[in-house]
Amino acid sequence: MKAAVYTRYGPPDVVQIKDIEKPAPKDNEVLVRIHATTVCAADWRMRKADPFLVRFMIGLWRPKKVNILGMEFAGTVESVGKAVTRFAAGDQVFGSTGFKFGTHAEYVCVPEDGALAIKPVNMTHEEAAAVLFGGVSALHFLREAKIQAGQKVLIYGASGSVGIFAVQLARHFGAQVTGVCSTANLDLVKSLGADEVVDYTREDFSRAGRVYDMVFDTVGKSGFSRSLKSLKRGGLYVRVGGSGRLTSILGGMLRGMWVSMTGAAKVISGVARGAAGDQSFLKGLIEAGKLRTVIDRRYSLDEIAEAHRHAEAGHKKGHVVIVLEHV
Ligand SMILES: NC(=O)c1ccc[n+]([C@@H]2O[C@H](COP(=O)([O-])OP(=O)(O)OC[C@H]3O[C@@H](n4cnc5c(N)ncnc54)[C@H](OP(=O)(O)O)[C@@H]3O)[C@@H](O)[C@H]2O)c1
Repeated sequence: MKAAVYTRYGPPDVVQIKDIEKPAPKDNEVLVRIHATTVCAADWRMRKADPFLVRFMIGLWRPKKVNILGMEFAGTVESVGKAVTRFAAGDQVFGSTGFKFGTHAEYVCVPEDGALAIKPVNMTHEEAAAVLFGGVSALHFLREAKIQAGQKVLIYGASGSVGIFAVQLARHFGAQVTGVCSTANLDLVKSLGADEVVDYTREDFSRAGRVYDMVFDTVGKSGFSRSLKSLKRGGLYVRVGGSGRLTSILGGMLRGMWVSMTGAAKVISGVARGAAGDQSFLKGLIEAGKLRTVIDRRYSLDEIAEAHRHAEAGHKKGHVVIVLEHV
C-alpha cells in the first residue's frame, strides 16, 4: 500500500510516499481502507519534533516508534479479525488512532473497541475524517472547565481545528460565545454560532472592557495578563495550545499556581484525553444538525508535504484534508 513515511525529524519534505506492506488485522482489529484523513497540528509537531518533548515520546534522534503520521480517518471496512463483532466488511466508518498515528496511508488497522464508529449519515468521508482531533480536544477542555449554560466564554483562536468545535460546543452547552479570529474568518466564526466576534488584527479583546467567565485559548496566543484582565475573579483560563517550549510550559505552570493560590483565576491545561462516549456524543450532534466541520484545503496523498506546510503555517480554517479516494 501507499503511505506517507518519515524516518527523520525535519521540514515537510522529510515525509515521503513509499510502498509498504498492507497491514493485516489481528483478531480484535478492523482493517479500514482510508478514503480521507487530515494533517493536524499534532502531525507537523511530531514531524519536526516540536516541542522537543516529542523526542522522548517517539525517539531521541529519529522517530522510531512512529513512522506514519495521521490521527483521524474515514473509510470503508475491508475486513475484520476473527473476534470482531461490531463491524463488518463494507461498513462506512470514521475514527481516530490517537497517538498511535498511522492514518496517512491507504489502510490502517484499528481495534474494534477503539475510537471507531459508523460514519455520520449526513457527512462525506472528507468531513467525517475532520471531526475527532478538534472535536474531542474541544470537548475535553470544555468539560474540564465544567462549562455551564449562561456563562460568558471567549474562544481565542476560534477558526482552527479546535476553535471551530469549541465555538459550536460551547454554544451547545448554552454559553454566550465571543470568538476571536482575524478579519477573513469573522463570517465563518459567526456562522458557527458565535454571539460576538473580535478581529484580533484590529482590536485587543482585553481592552474592550468585556469580562468573561472563561477564556478558552486554542492557540496559546491570548497572553496570560490580557486573559486574566478579561476574566471575572475566580474565572477559568483554559490553555489548549501553546508554543510547547519548556520555558513557556514552566512559566505557565508557575503563573497558573500563583493565580490559583490567590483566587484570581483557575488555569486549566494539559493534554486532551478522549473519553468513552465522546465519539458517539459528537456523532449525535452532527446527525442532529448541531455540529459541523470546516474544511480549508484538500490535498492528495502525493501532495502531503504541501499539506504539512499549510497546516504548520498556523492559519488554516478548520482542517486540511488528505483525500485518498473519492467516494
Ligand atoms: N493540549 C492538547 O491536548 C491539544 C489538543 C489539540 C491541539 N493542541 C494544540 O492547540 C493548538 C491549536 O490547534 P489547532 O488544531 O486548532 O490549530 P490550527 O487549526 O492550526 O489553528 C489555526 C488557527 O489559529 C488561528 N490563529 C493563528 N494565530 C492567531 C492569533 N494570533 N490569534 C488568534 N487566532 C490565531 C488561525 O486564525 P487566523 O488565520 O485568523 O489567524 C487559524 O484559523 C496547536 O498548538 C496544537 O498543537 C493541543
